[in-house]
Amino acid sequence: MYLHSLFFFFFLIMKSYYIEQNILYVLDTRRLPFKEVYIPIDSINSGFEAISKMKVRGAPMIGVVAAFSVAAEALNKGVNKEKLIEGIELLKKSRPTARNLFYALDRILPILKLKNWRRKILSEAKEILKEEELSSKKIAEYGYEVLPDKGTVLTHCNTGSLAAPGDGTALGVIIEGVRRGKKLEIYITETRPRFQGAKLTAYELKKREIPFTLITDSSAPFIIKDVDVIIIGADRIALNGDTANKVGSFSLSLGAKYFGKPLYIAAPTSTIDHQIKTGDHIKIEERDKEEVLKINGRWLTFKDINVKNIAFDIIPGSFIQGIITEYGVISRPYTKNIKRVLDAILPDKP
Ligand code: MRU
Repeated sequence: MYLHSLFFFFFLIMKSYYIEQNILYVLDTRRLPFKEVYIPIDSINSGFEAISKMKVRGAPMIGVVAAFSVAAEALNKGVNKEKLIEGIELLKKSRPTARNLFYALDRILPILKLKNWRRKILSEAKEILKEEELSSKKIAEYGYEVLPDKGTVLTHCNTGSLAAPGDGTALGVIIEGVRRGKKLEIYITETRPRFQGAKLTAYELKKREIPFTLITDSSAPFIIKDVDVIIIGADRIALNGDTANKVGSFSLSLGAKYFGKPLYIAAPTSTIDHQIKTGDHIKIEERDKEEVLKINGRWLTFKDINVKNIAFDIIPGSFIQGIITEYGVISRPYTKNIKRVLDAILPDKP
């Protein structure tokens, strides 16, 4: 009980977002781990800028920010429906891979046909946030079962409360394991080129006083030989279980396959794209070459060399041991089992 309250206290002091006068404020992850600066999402432009410049990132949080940016714009009486539709189209261009962006905006769009749409869009944004918070909680409850009572777990990128409302997805599972007394040695990857692991996951675990070890991305597939379980998040999941996640995930899955270690995906069903059968249909974001050529704003090497900077890669469903969702752990065969879960919740969800 005491331990639980202690964690709750830490969660409170590291809230990654809050709502004040119907405006969502989010921690600017680009300033972390050393500066905690909240930015208001008070218009579509501020939402677009926050998402595309990766001030906020992580699939569920991107969806929430997109929804609140439309809600803030809608509360401005000078903005008509046509302008909002244009704004929604703009937001859809902010980042292409995270399914939750489209999921959230596709829930907002039909509300424009209703009476009192300005207030209803705000209610929907709040509802999406609430659902994602609940999903994180349920994912942690189901996911903690896959963790050993004593052992080593590896995670990639940042999937904590900075990436998904609540305690997050994959990191939320690990936090829940620690909270319930499991003795876990936690490996986190740096996550080049933007260092979401070294900066953000390290920040979240340090805030909670949970010990961890940082490793380079390139060492991770080999280190897996000493790891009991790998848990990572997802940006988009196809019906056959193929999963797009932060670049480096595919090599983790190869390491997991080679050493016979289980790799789990932890993600809400809002990340599942029911319109695509396989990962071949997932658009992989390519980002600016400066992300690779600079570190913390300083040139690492020559400015004029060619760079290919893919932000995500795709793990074949057959390499995934299970997908931990708010409805439980989905196992293979995914085409059948994902469909079964979606059939139970659709058509409520776009
Ligand atoms: O480019 P990012 O930082 O938005 O990528 C984030 C990830 O790949 C996460 O693993 C994923 O979105 C799941 S977040 C709970």
